[in-house]
Amino acid sequence: MHAVAPNTAWPYPCWIAHRGAGELAPENTMAAFRLGAEHGFAMFECDVKLSADGEPFLLHDTELDRTTNGHGEAGLLGWDALSRLDAGSWHGRPYAGEPLLRLEALARWLQALGMMVNLEIKPTPGDEVRTGRVVAQHVARLWSQAHVKPLLSSFSTAALEAARQTQPDLPRALLLDEWGDDGIKSALRLGCQALVVNHTHLNGERIAAIHDAGLKALSYTVNHASRASMLWRAGLDGLITDRVDVFEPQARLGANPARLMVEAEAWMA
Ligand code: G3P
Ligand code: MG
Repeated sequence: MHAVAPNTAWPYPCWIAHRGAGELAPENTMAAFRLGAEHGFAMFECDVKLSADGEPFLLHDTELDRTTNGHGEAGLLGWDALSRLDAGSWHGRPYAGEPLLRLEALARWLQALGMMVNLEIKPTPGDEVRTGRVVAQHVARLWSQAHVKPLLSSFSTAALEAARQTQPDLPRALLLDEWGDDGIKSALRLGCQALVVNHTHLNGERIAAIHDAGLKALSYTVNHASRASMLWRAGLDGLITDRVDVFEPQARLGANPARLMVEAEAWMA
């Protein structure tokens, strides 16, 4: 059973910075993306949800409390109120006043620098279908001139299905926090190009099964070199990490580490 349509070559770098720069800067803010880029990353993962008035913006949690000076459910506020919050002070004084980031502003910055993104659709619970639809609409408009479109991903099959119905040509990936026999089937049913699996549930056999289904295998959140090395050897296609500092040399190199290892072993033989 193969899901990949013709002309869907995989254009993405294999090193992906989680939430911009992992934990080194306030997650999902412009400061984080700048820091991730300074560490040599050319692709970023981030979390997108909707304000009450339908503006896509970046925030991981449903609630504002952990990463901003606001309180309660973020999706209940309009963008005007959200835009005035401080999303940096929680991390430390150097980031005081860092605002929440609109998808539109991120789109401009990424395209100015020729960088890529994995947009995780992270709906406020109950808002899955609207979020999938609206994010896909905005992505199609904001990246209309881009050669490489954002990779849309989600744990929510409802959000992915809504994105697919709205903009069927945007690449999609299903996120799996657990491994189940129906994960691959669900990804195929949703017309996804990839599965993005919690690394604690990924091994060589499962990566091979993902590949056999015609899908790419990505993993999150891989923060240790030994784990990364094992997954690259098993054929991983993309790795999402917090440790933009640890993996900076490899991210700068850009090449697929698995291929480099094979070449190095052939050279040494
Ligand atoms: O998209 C990969 C990863 O970000 C999913 O988990 O909770 O960090 O958004 P979470
Ligand atoms: Mg995420």
